[in-house]
Amino acid sequence: MGIGTGLLTEQMLQVQDYEITGVDFSEEMLVKAQTRLSDYNVKLLNLDIRDYPENESFQSIISSGGAICISHQDNKQYRLYSYCDDKLDHIKLLRKLYNLLEDNGLLIISIQGEHKDYSKAISEDITYSQEINHSGDYMTKWYTFSNEEGILARQFVKLVVFDEIEMINSFTEVGFKSLGVDTSNKFYVFQR
Ligand SMILES: C[S@@+](CC[C@H](N)C(=O)[O-])C[C@H]1O[C@@H](n2cnc3c(N)ncnc32)[C@H](O)[C@@H]1O
Repeated sequence: MGIGTGLLTEQMLQVQDYEITGVDFSEEMLVKAQTRLSDYNVKLLNLDIRDYPENESFQSIISSGGAICISHQDNKQYRLYSYCDDKLDHIKLLRKLYNLLEDNGLLIISIQGEHKDYSKAISEDITYSQEINHSGDYMTKWYTFSNEEGILARQFVKLVVFDEIEMINSFTEVGFKSLGVDTSNKFYVFQR
């Protein structure tokens, strides 16, 4: 969910011929995914995952920096970030994901680096920067690309944040078991 440009999907399909449905609410991202994955048979759907019809079931659902992500703060605490509108909306999404999984199916969420302010040159004249702010249940993030003359492009996101205890509780509340972090340390895994 949140297949984006299909980076992880491409890597998965290089390993095994998985049957994959990729969902994203951004048409622009899906156009890029379509190009990247043109050699493979992937079903791409332009849809908000929250509207996914509950009439099929999957062995696993993966969010790799997609609709939900998890960060490891200072290598101590896990935190969950959700694109949902608020905490109740997030629980509603988890209920849907639970219903979309087969029994014992896995919900796999990538673990990212800490969200923090930083800036770095990405080419000779273009700098990328990100600015994080926390307020109540939310984290906001500005992504900015600029050059000497000023800002070239900006994007703003607002994510609802759960601390580690709230995160685990939100999954167990809808029936998931927490299996914890996988052996690669790159994914947090929950099971129906
Ligand atoms: C950082 S990208 C994901 C990268 C991707 N998983 C990959 O492997 O290349 C995040 C994506 O999640 C999508 N997204 C976020 N919330 C979503 C939702 N509720 N439904 C569908 N797509 C969503 C965004 O449009 C964006 O394309």
